[in-house]
Amino acid sequence: MAISPRQGLAAIDYYMVGISKLPGWDDPVKLSSNESVLGMSPAAIEAAQRAIPDSHLYPEVDTEILAEALAERYRLNPDWMAFGPGSDEVLQRIVNTFSGPGEELVHSKNAYMQFPIYAKVAGATPVAADDNDFHYDVDKILSKVNNNTRIVLLANPDNPSGSCLSAGEIRRLHAALPGNVLLIVDSAYDEFAGADDYESATNLVHEYDNVIVTRSFSKVYGMAGLRLGWCYGQPQYIEVMTRIGPSFPINTAAFAAGIEAVKDTAHVDKVLAHNRRWIEELSRQFTTMGLKVYPSQTNFILVGFSTEAGKTASEANTWLNENGIIPRQFALDDFSNKLRFTVGKDDGMEKTIAVMREFLNR
Ligand SMILES: Cc1ncc(COP(=O)(O)O)c(C=O)c1O
Repeated sequence: MAISPRQGLAAIDYYMVGISKLPGWDDPVKLSSNESVLGMSPAAIEAAQRAIPDSHLYPEVDTEILAEALAERYRLNPDWMAFGPGSDEVLQRIVNTFSGPGEELVHSKNAYMQFPIYAKVAGATPVAADDNDFHYDVDKILSKVNNNTRIVLLANPDNPSGSCLSAGEIRRLHAALPGNVLLIVDSAYDEFAGADDYESATNLVHEYDNVIVTRSFSKVYGMAGLRLGWCYGQPQYIEVMTRIGPSFPINTAAFAAGIEAVKDTAHVDKVLAHNRRWIEELSRQFTTMGLKVYPSQTNFILVGFSTEAGKTASEANTWLNENGIIPRQFALDDFSNKLRFTVGKDDGMEKTIAVMREFLNR
C-alpha cells in the first residue's frame, strides 16, 4: 500500500508557472514569468563563472559578505538577514515556522498565487480577503483577522496585479493588527516601485517586532535561474529561520554573483530605466487600444480584455502565441479575461504592440 502524504497536502494544486516554449518558434518572445530581460550584471556573470570550478565543494560561504553588501546598498542591518534558494523558499520557511494546524494565514484573494499553498503546506488555513478591483483592501483584510490568525501575508508590490499599497495603507493595516500576528511583506518587486507614497517595508522591521520582509534576486538583479532570496527581520526571527533552514542556503555561484549584482548600481539603473520606459509605453498603447490596464509598480502589467466575441483574453493569447509571443494566462475565474505581460526587450515589446493592434483590428 502506498504511503499517503501528510493530511492536507494531497489536495494542494500545482502552482502553474508561465509557459516558456511555443511549438515552431525557436526563440519566442517570452513575457510570462516576470524575469529581467536585461539579464544579470556582467560583473555578476563573471563572478558566477569564477565560482563554478569550486562547485564540487559544499558552499560554506560567509553569508556575512553578502549581508554587508545588501546592508550598504539598502541601509539595513546585516545581522537581520537570512538567505535561501529564492524568496519562494524563504517565504515557505517563514510560514512553516510561524503557523500550523488550527491557525490561519490571511491574504488578499488575487495576490501571489503561492500564498495559499504556503499556508496549506504548513498545515495552516489560508483565508482570502476580497480586494477592490485587484487593489488590496486594508479593511477587508483586517475583517478576516481573528483569534486564530497567526500571519497576514502581503505582496507589496503585488503579482499578478502590479498594484501597490501606499505607506499610509500598509501602516494603517499594521497598526490595527494584534501584536501576536506576524505581518509578512513579500517585496520581490521592491526596486521597481516608484510611486511617491511607496515605502519599503524594511522600515517597519526597524520599528516593530512583528514584521518580516522578503526580498528576491530574481527580479531587478536578473538572477532567477541562480535562486537567491533573503528576508529581513529582527534577530529572534533570523536566528530561528537560520537554524531550521537548509544546511547550505546559498549555492556557490549565486553567492558570488549576488555580491557583484548588488554592487553594480549602474546595471540596476539600466534595468529600471528600461522597465519604466516600457511600462509607460505598453500602458499607453494598450489603453489607446481600448484595453483596461492596471497601474503597475513592477516589471509587468495586467491587462483586462473585452468580453466581445473575437476580442477576449483567451483569443488574444492564442493570436499572440501564433505570432511567437507568450503572455501569461491564469486559469482562475477572476483572471479569465486578463493577460499579464512582462517587460521584454525593445524588439519584443514593439512586436507585441503591433501584434496586439492586429488582433484588435481584425
Ligand atoms: C510576488 C512574488 N513573490 C515571490 C516570488 C518568488 O521569487 P523567487 O524567484 O525569489 O523565489 C515571485 C516570483 O515571481 C513573486 O512574483
